[in-house]
Amino acid sequence: GLMSDLLGFPKMEKKLASLLAIDHVLIVPGDSDEQPPVLKRLGQLLNNTLSLLLPDGRNVIAAMGGTTMAAVAKEFTPQLARQRQLLFVPARGGVGELVDIQANAICSQMAQNTGGEHRSLYVPENVSERTYEPLLKEPSIKPVLDLISHANVVIHSIGEAMTMASRRQMSDDVIAELEQKQAVAEAFGYFFDETGQVVYKIPRIGLQIRDLNDIPYVFAVAAGAKKATAIRAYMHNAPHQTWFITDESAANSLLKGA
Ligand code: G3H
Repeated sequence: GLMSDLLGFPKMEKKLASLLAIDHVLIVPGDSDEQPPVLKRLGQLLNNTLSLLLPDGRNVIAAMGGTTMAAVAKEFTPQLARQRQLLFVPARGGVGELVDIQANAICSQMAQNTGGEHRSLYVPENVSERTYEPLLKEPSIKPVLDLISHANVVIHSIGEAMTMASRRQMSDDVIAELEQKQAVAEAFGYFFDETGQVVYKIPRIGLQIRDLNDIPYVFAVAAGAKKATAIRAYMHNAPHQTWFITDESAANSLLKGA
């Protein structure tokens, strides 16, 4: 309704933040599974929150991929770049996604919408360790990895484990392993079980989950009641400074499951 559009859900946000043991939760009205405009609202809320929070001057923003990230990137505006120099970098190398939802594409979109800059990270899939090592020193890769390690902002989503595994066409062996280990969530290429244990990790370069602790601004955007179990599982690992931006339907489902 109008009031919740204007005021948000302060009580629910507080309750959910304490349940998930993170500092900040922001909720938009509706259900993104049923109403696609809800994703737009998540993006607008993210854009406004970043505009209020980020320090003046240079910001290095590491972004992940996925359909949620692709939708929110479209809502970024030049307002965000006022008094700031923004540099968007993909948080990790390619994770076998369709091109338009890869972190590279999302960074490019965010830069285009805000008037900021972006870098791309081109890392092939499934290369052997022997091929991989020298790649890290490549002139086109090393500077981007250095930037990622200096990011002051991270924006990512959270996915359901099995949805992500099949979307990324992971092998039958890996899918069997994920099932056997009861993986329910995926973020940053890590798979988690319900208790938040990492049960599988895609061998990729870039941001690692332990790096999040040192990053002042961490934004997790994930919505829709379907994702409640995945969100809950990931949040066991979320650094306390996380801003979780979600919709009413995921929030209700998380609070009900508490
Ligand atoms: O890592 C998490 C996934 O990228 C989430 O993907 O936004 O398409 O559900 P999604």
